[in-house]
Amino acid sequence: MKIAWVTGGGTGIGRALSEALYREGHWVVISGRRQDALTQAVEQIKTGHTSGDLWALPGDVTEAAFVEDLPRKVRARWGEIDWLINNAGANTNHSFQQSSPEEFEQAFRTNCLSAILCARAVLPAMRARGSGSIVNVSSILGRWASPDSSSYSVSKYALAGFTDALRQEVAGTGVHVMGVYPGFIRTAMTLPFVAPGSPRARMGKSPESMAAAILKGLHRQKREVLYPWYVPIALRLHAWFPATLEKLRRLFKR
Ligand SMILES: NC(=O)c1ccc[n+]([C@@H]2O[C@H](COP(=O)([O-])OP(=O)(O)OC[C@H]3O[C@@H](n4cnc5c(N)ncnc54)[C@H](OP(=O)(O)O)[C@@H]3O)[C@@H](O)[C@H]2O)c1
Repeated sequence: MKIAWVTGGGTGIGRALSEALYREGHWVVISGRRQDALTQAVEQIKTGHTSGDLWALPGDVTEAAFVEDLPRKVRARWGEIDWLINNAGANTNHSFQQSSPEEFEQAFRTNCLSAILCARAVLPAMRARGSGSIVNVSSILGRWASPDSSSYSVSKYALAGFTDALRQEVAGTGVHVMGVYPGFIRTAMTLPFVAPGSPRARMGKSPESMAAAILKGLHRQKREVLYPWYVPIALRLHAWFPATLEKLRRLFKR
């Protein structure tokens, strides 16, 4: 049994992962700003299943006071956090010209600084015990930027950079660091921006399948999870033939 903290655990990928963790018997803390989303997730996940434990702690992961306090509350009730999943995120789906500097700042706070704050809050105890996992959910757009999601891409690149730096910094301490790079997953974040029946919509995967891939990566202590199948292929091809792939992406979006 592990103690896990899933940020953004009330909806989408975070909710699906919290459910998968719970069903495996782990004790899971879920955080998010909307109390109602968290309460609903806890009720739905627990209905019909008794397995691990679930605890909703509402709050904003861009606020240091909330983030620093959460591991103290968990320690007092359950013990030290074994697995931190930095999953909270947001995308305005704006191009550079549609975005203000404040929007870039906010995207960085939500999609990258939050993970930095959460990692700071749990890492000392993980290092002291010589074990633990920190999982950062970036995006395919954190390795191949989209002009339609400028501030999001920038912030997810930053998160990918933080993940790679942290992995190297803690190498040999027993702490595992994993980056997650999802393609298109059908959640509230993406569905309003994809036309039903379009090629992109047909390629979308469920949050449950994404959660299963993350859980597998956690158990195997993988370095990265690139999901679904086309993500590693697209990133490799883009590294080799960037102009061609960017042209193909434009055609694919029509
Ligand atoms: N869906 C995809 O295709 C896709 C692809 C690549 C990467 N991702 C990444 O996967 C992660 C999960 O996204 P999702 O698709 O499952 O979308 P989602 O359902 O909208 O989940 C995002 C979660 O983050 C929480 N959140 C956002 N800002 C927060 C803040 N400041 N403090 C606390 N919680 C915050 C939200 O809860 P509250 O609003 O209640 O705070 C929400 O539960 C994100 O990091 C996203 O960038 C998704």
